[in-house]
Amino acid sequence: MPATDTPGVPVPHRVRVHHLREAKQRHEPLTMLTAYDAVCARIFDEAGIDMLLVGDSIGDNMLAHPSTIPVTVDEMIPAVRAVSRTAKRAFVIADLPFGSYEASPAHCLATSVRMLKEGHAHAVKFEGGTHLSGHVALCTRSGIPVVGHLGFTPQAENLLGGKRVQGRGNAAAERLVTDAKALQDAGAVAVVLEMVPAPVAARITEVLEIPTIGIGAGPDVDGQVLVWTDMAGMGSWSPRFARQFGSVGDELFAATRRYAAAVRERQFPGPEHTYQS
Ligand code: KIV
Repeated sequence: MPATDTPGVPVPHRVRVHHLREAKQRHEPLTMLTAYDAVCARIFDEAGIDMLLVGDSIGDNMLAHPSTIPVTVDEMIPAVRAVSRTAKRAFVIADLPFGSYEASPAHCLATSVRMLKEGHAHAVKFEGGTHLSGHVALCTRSGIPVVGHLGFTPQAENLLGGKRVQGRGNAAAERLVTDAKALQDAGAVAVVLEMVPAPVAARITEVLEIPTIGIGAGPDVDGQVLVWTDMAGMGSWSPRFARQFGSVGDELFAATRRYAAAVRERQFPGPEHTYQS
């Protein structure tokens, strides 16, 4: 999206669903990052990120779960609320965690309503294709924007046999295209494509009117998303498709060491940090 009078921060002042389609029509790349708390939400929002995804990747990134699978709705909601309350411009999307939506459209709607009512999110995201068209349609009819998620879907990691590229070969690629169209026809406002060969992602992007947001899907998509800890260099490991745009983990470590040393050496607090009366 193009720049405004605030240096470096793009228009509009609040990103809404119609801006996503308009950005696609204008070939303006969309930016999305995960956020799980108010501290990061403020920084990413002020930096002009268009969409903040409160991903179920909170599980393995923040809550020390081994994967996204154990994450519960009750763990998600405080994070969604913190991000939604903080972001002034970004469109805030809440992920529906494993087990909280699959059983039926009504199940999905009930969890999505909680994400908007208690979490104040603007939209929800959930993983799956054609078989979830009814879920997408019911949420959409109820006024809840839905972002789809196709390709490698981490909640199905056990079924998929690990973190593997999806959509390889003609038949699998065609299935992805069919799934993407089904989500669009049901009312989805965007689709995340995770770990998909670049030509397949490009084809889906071409056939859809709604934006595709890639993560490990190559450059020919309408936008990109990364898990923020991978983007900023916070973790000890990050996937091949992620690029590290900073070394925030190293800086935090260094600041922590300086603080601990100053306390141990009685150099903190100094007179300027001390109340005498
Ligand atoms: O939970 C998450 O962070 C996600 C992204 C990988 C798209 O779903």
